[in-house]
Amino acid sequence: MEDVTALVLAAGKGTRMKSALPKVLHKVGGIPMIGQVLQAVKAIGTRREAVVVGFGADAVKEYLAGRAESIVQTEQLGTGHAVMQAESLLAGEKGTLLVTCGDTPLVTTETFAALLDCHRKTGAAATVLTAKMPDPTGYGRVIRDTAGRVAKIVEQKDGTPDELAVNEVNAGIYCFELPSLWNLLHRLGNDNQQGEYYLTDVIGMFVAEGATVSALSAPDYRETLGVNSRLQLAAAEKILRERKLEELMTAGVTIIDPAGTYVDTTVCIGSDTVLYPGTILEGRTVIGKNCEIGPYTRLTNVHIGDGNRLQFTCADDCEIKDGTQVGPFVHFRPQTVIGAGVKVGNFMEVKNSHIGDGTKLPHLSYIGDSDVGAGVNIGCGVITVNYDGKEKHRTKIDDHAFVGCNSNLVAPVEIGEYAYVAAGSTVTKRVPSGALAVGRTKQRNIEDWVKDDTYKK
Ligand code: UD1
Ligand code: CA
Repeated sequence: MEDVTALVLAAGKGTRMKSALPKVLHKVGGIPMIGQVLQAVKAIGTRREAVVVGFGADAVKEYLAGRAESIVQTEQLGTGHAVMQAESLLAGEKGTLLVTCGDTPLVTTETFAALLDCHRKTGAAATVLTAKMPDPTGYGRVIRDTAGRVAKIVEQKDGTPDELAVNEVNAGIYCFELPSLWNLLHRLGNDNQQGEYYLTDVIGMFVAEGATVSALSAPDYRETLGVNSRLQLAAAEKILRERKLEELMTAGVTIIDPAGTYVDTTVCIGSDTVLYPGTILEGRTVIGKNCEIGPYTRLTNVHIGDGNRLQFTCADDCEIKDGTQVGPFVHFRPQTVIGAGVKVGNFMEVKNSHIGDGTKLPHLSYIGDSDVGAGVNIGCGVITVNYDGKEKHRTKIDDHAFVGCNSNLVAPVEIGEYAYVAAGSTVTKRVPSGALAVGRTKQRNIEDWVKDDTYKK
């Protein structure tokens, strides 16, 4: 597809979203809608991709940096006007222009490729993607002549009752030949109900010129659903989610309850991993083989090796190597790296720390800003005291150290290899390798402190 240039229209405000965020930046399947569109388009092998931006241009451009070129449409005068804004940028381009909308994020690469194929095989000047909608309200209708050829596209607001009864709609996705499209766009008018320059009018103009206009009907109308409201956003989300889960199950991932499992389109999962109900996997999360994830686990940008088991866990921007057991009720905060064969038990928080292989953190601890070696045992209730009210400090616990229950390790501090910390200690200075630190007051018993001697009976 070397001679295909893609143009994505994304300048509209998305009034019906009732949002300060430009519509195309609303996330679907875990990434902005415009990102889903660009990903599907690029996979056909386009030579160049440009996006028409307008409402919230700075924010949209920021997202597009490194992903696509952008052109600003300062006033949103319609889809035809939007395409015109690209003329100077794309003036030198020949071949096919694939035009699509930033608010139809469900169209697959296969459908884009099929549209191009149809365009080429029929030698058309313009080819439009259509769909048979159960409820076509709001979409432009594709009006065909008695021979079944596309005659024109009529918008909802401009249609006659007969035209509006047609359920074949314009998906808003087209192939045009360059440079001939530009001349036609110059002749577009805005004499319609919305006073806009409609790109859809170009179709009727081609027909009037005697040029070939082709149409391809989408294999599944749901691909062409546009997102104009939060309701449609949720509908699109559901479809993308189901697609992703199907893809994962086909590749060998078990999903116990697909209706209660949420996986962004960007996530990768190895075979024989099982996802339990209530699992949410987001962003650049990668999970290896033979893992058990969930129930009720949310992982965002987390890299997990093979054979790990995580239940009731929340983690962000972390890494877990292989064969580790986590949970229930664990929170891993950013910049945490958990080694192989580690056991992290219930009610644990680990932040910005490295935990070595085979270390055990069984229950009720806070480990923050720490470097914990291999084979370490952290007793119940151990706390790294990492913050002095002004600055954060690191704690270093070397290989095979044993930290007794309910100890406070006041950072900066180091516990040497094979050292022991007695339960209940508050450790404020370095413990040498192999030493025992006892940092608590000596126990003293006061005999017969209870005056009433009934307890003696
Ligand atoms: C458009 C089509 C309609 C089709 C539907 C498919 C026209 C006139 N109508 O209607 O036939 O059934 O899409 O979803 O083309 N945009 C700009 N600049 C503008 C106006 C719009 O960039 O000045 C962008 C929007 O950001 C959006 C896309 O073009 O991504 C479509 O615009 P929208 O207003 O949503 O058009 P629809 O009414 O849905
Ligand atoms: Ca739309």
